[in-house]
Amino acid sequence: MNGNGIERLGRIQLRVFDFEKSVDYYTNVLGLDITARDENRVYLKAWDEWDHHSVILEKSDRAGVDHVAFKVTNNDVLDTLEKKIGDFGCTMERVSNKDRIGEGQAIRTTLPTGHKIEFYHDIEYVGVPTGTLNPHPWPEGQRGISPHRLDHCLLSGDDIVSTKRLFKDVLGFVETEKVVTVDGESLIATWLTTTMTGHDIALIKGPEAKIHHVGFFLDNWYDILRASDILSRYEIEIDVTPTRHGITRGQTIYFFDPSGNRNEVYTGGYAVYSDFPTITWTEDKLGQGIFYHRRQLNEAFTAVFS
Ligand SMILES: [Fe+2]
Repeated sequence: MNGNGIERLGRIQLRVFDFEKSVDYYTNVLGLDITARDENRVYLKAWDEWDHHSVILEKSDRAGVDHVAFKVTNNDVLDTLEKKIGDFGCTMERVSNKDRIGEGQAIRTTLPTGHKIEFYHDIEYVGVPTGTLNPHPWPEGQRGISPHRLDHCLLSGDDIVSTKRLFKDVLGFVETEKVVTVDGESLIATWLTTTMTGHDIALIKGPEAKIHHVGFFLDNWYDILRASDILSRYEIEIDVTPTRHGITRGQTIYFFDPSGNRNEVYTGGYAVYSDFPTITWTEDKLGQGIFYHRRQLNEAFTAVFS
């Protein structure tokens, strides 16, 4: 939390079709735990997350992202953000505490890139299986990849300049890295954080109101390799096999859920302090920035959004 009252990326709601196949994938292959379900939604959390859920799967006839939400330190922050974001020019609305299982009241707006974004504080506390007293480092009975937590997402849209301005200048996020055209005139992508990680949210110029991927955190490079083994075992479509990002220095693998939403498991990177300068990449080095070893983008990476 960067002194702005915004703790972290707390949840993402993804649209999926073939609902039961998707639920099976997110629980048995990715390895999240179900905490609740209703007719059209399943609520999930990673084993190392304390709150009731971080991922909601919504039954739909198409893939994509319904909304992303940031947890704030207390409910007074919601009032402050409501005014600040309203003054920026975005229309605000309140989301009732009866809208979803386990959640309190939230505020909601639409970003200039067309994405719905929410802020909330109240959510049911569930805890983790290792507990808070003399804990073991990991629980028994883990399934699939079993990441620690939701880490970040990369969203696409046209007006990433205004959306970045909202996050950076109004909400107080730190821009850790950016990609610009070689002449430095136009922004192509930006990585933004409110925590000490390299990014909680990133934006790339592309199709409106779409998601490129959602990323989950693993401990280390070997866990990325093991994740790749699990994906092959279950014959999940892999987009990019284990490699390193130049941007954020993270280590990564990309793959697709049964509806075509791209997932990532991610580790490494660096700690961010709010006085760090923004690292700049130029478009001619974008391949190296995204995939440091191969030094070029694969076709799916630039073409597939959901
Ligand atoms: Fe990522």
